Amino acid sequence: MSDQFVIETNDLVKSYGPHIALDSLSLKVKAGATGLLGPNGAGKSTMIKTLLGLIGVTSGEGKVLGFNIRTEGENIRSKIGYLPEYDCLNPGLDAIHQVAYSGELIGMNPTSAMQRAHEVLEYVGLRDQRYRKIETFSTGMVQATKLACSIIHDPELLITDEPSNGLDSRAREFMLKTLQQIVGEGGRSLLMASHLMDDVEKVCDRIVMLHKGRLIAQGRIEDLKSIDQEIEIHVWGHASELERELQNSGYEVRRTGRVMRVVRQDESTYAAIIESAAKSGAQLRRMNDHEPSLEDLFLVIMERLGYSVKSSAELFHFGPSSSKVDAPSELKEVGR
Ligand SMILES: Nc1ncnc2c1ncn2[C@@H]1O[C@H](COP(=O)(O)OP(=O)(O)O)[C@@H](O)[C@H]1O
Ligand SMILES: [Mg+2]
Repeated sequence: MSDQFVIETNDLVKSYGPHIALDSLSLKVKAGATGLLGPNGAGKSTMIKTLLGLIGVTSGEGKVLGFNIRTEGENIRSKIGYLPEYDCLNPGLDAIHQVAYSGELIGMNPTSAMQRAHEVLEYVGLRDQRYRKIETFSTGMVQATKLACSIIHDPELLITDEPSNGLDSRAREFMLKTLQQIVGEGGRSLLMASHLMDDVEKVCDRIVMLHKGRLIAQGRIEDLKSIDQEIEIHVWGHASELERELQNSGYEVRRTGRVMRVVRQDESTYAAIIESAAKSGAQLRRMNDHEPSLEDLFLVIMERLGYSVKSSAELFHFGPSSSKVDAPSELKEVGR
């Protein structure tokens, strides 16, 4: 393994009994902001916990900042910042003491931990609330406090698990902006697990995409999106005929009512669309290159893998069953 990557895994497998949560994952994460994307149950939190050495791996290997995840978990946890998905704060403490305590836990002396606690709480927008007890905080303020705890030692790599979970739109925007700022300042890296593609797209320029414990894509978002360039057309009348005509000519078409997206093969695709429209009696009202979203990319990848998914909403939703607490049992016991 080389040191060029902040995170690297090789054939990593994690099973919970017979259930394979991570299936031979080989990842290479470069410095910068990377989104760990996938629907609920994809294995994102499991991935993070194995990277931190909080849970043992079944087979395979991995390194975080050059440290071995099997044997050097403690080093990893003191070097990186971790914002967990689960509640890890003491509701009876005020924010300043909670944040200073998290600094002491990773070996800072009490004076510098307290000094840094003031700085980071200001950074996450909680300057005026720092002496309030956490039990009086909104979800947004709790997430901001968790973020402050995770950056107290100014880590080179920050790992956040669903950082905007449960936040209203204002708190969410603030969280995403703060994460962007953390990465933007001083070459720090971020691995942000999320089931929300929009969030990832706002903050990250690379992604690792998981589905059912398998790696389905990794790389720069920009490069991944250029796999399939589509032309979007708006049609008036005879849309089904046009769709058939295009398909018969060998074009891939995705249609929603009068709007269709045709996979661009080369420059001649534009002319082929116009010709097919004339043949089928459909009127073209608009034709433009489609700027794909991460959701489009996900659908294309899933289709290629042979899954039939109509919309990513089928997979990327947050139902009541997913409000599980994902703390490893040993952490729950010590109340962190
Ligand atoms: N402690 C556990 N014991 C058994 N199965 C688990 C445990 N934690 C997670 N899983 C299972 O592993 C899979 C991946 O879960 P998780 O890593 O939490 O996914 P994500 O964070 O992407 O939602 C899911 O099928 C989940 O039910
Ligand atoms: Mg999770």
